Amino acid sequence: MIKPMQDDLPASQITHAPLAGVIGMPIAHSRSPRLHGHWLARYGLPGHYVPIPVMPEHLAEVLRILPRAGFVGANVTIPHKEAVLTLADTVTDRAALIGAANTLIFRADGKIHADNTDGYGFIANLRQNEPDWQPDLGPAAVIGAGGAARAVVASLLDSGVKELRIANRTRLRAEQIKAEFGARLVVYDWAQVGNMLEGATTVVNATSLGMQGKQPLRVPLDALSPDALVTDLVYTPLMTPFLTEAQARGCRVVDGLGMLLHQAAPGFERWFGQRPDVDDEARRVALE
Ligand code: ATR
Repeated sequence: MIKPMQDDLPASQITHAPLAGVIGMPIAHSRSPRLHGHWLARYGLPGHYVPIPVMPEHLAEVLRILPRAGFVGANVTIPHKEAVLTLADTVTDRAALIGAANTLIFRADGKIHADNTDGYGFIANLRQNEPDWQPDLGPAAVIGAGGAARAVVASLLDSGVKELRIANRTRLRAEQIKAEFGARLVVYDWAQVGNMLEGATTVVNATSLGMQGKQPLRVPLDALSPDALVTDLVYTPLMTPFLTEAQARGCRVVDGLGMLLHQAAPGFERWFGQRPDVDDEARRVALE
């Protein structure tokens, strides 16, 4: 039997490889296309994942067009993570609370659904690398109060942290997070970060300090207990000066690359139909 050309098929039967991508500006250095491309190849799935450079003034137009061009969803990164909330038809509670979305699903009925998987990625990374980690064992200390910190705070509270201390250079941003996230938060002054670490069992650098080309995060670690689990959202380099110093004090440390990998997994599963493995191979691909 001669197979019909796709054009001969009723519209409902035309199938194409699902498309997804990451929307941002600049986007050339994003590691997501490599990671998703690796997973697609590894599981032998049809589909493509591409970088989509979009200026802020074109975001609404692009989001209208993508679902009509074969896209089943997208990741969203700087500078669009906040703006997509106002453009999506439905927004999950956690994305609304965090005030940003990183994962979009274009539904068959044309509606855009926005979610935030950064907090999930953060916790999944800790659990994968430190399975014995207990969030409710003692206070958590979060350094920084930007967009990434908001996702971390939401996920730590969700995981059962009873007291969450937070300090930020611009104190007002930390105060704002406390106002939104509630009574379990305690705001510390930026000059008091060292004191904030006393007794903390989970410590997170959620600032951009320590990233290649930036100053290191300089915090007195005298009060840091060797029992604390210390993690950094910065993953270039993998071992930041902050993690190196904490490790030298006997702390268990977890680098930030796994958060990037784990936050990508739920989107990949929704778009391409397979939950991907976050393993050494995925790490290697993301680092290439
Ligand atoms: P992201 O989405 O990565 O969190 P962001 O919202 O710009 O990005 O937040 C960056 C974080 O790093 C903030 O906590 C910021 O502190 P401010 O709110 O005071 O800007 C912190 N940060 C960046 N550069 C810093 C520096 N030189 N000293 C202290 N904190 C810094």
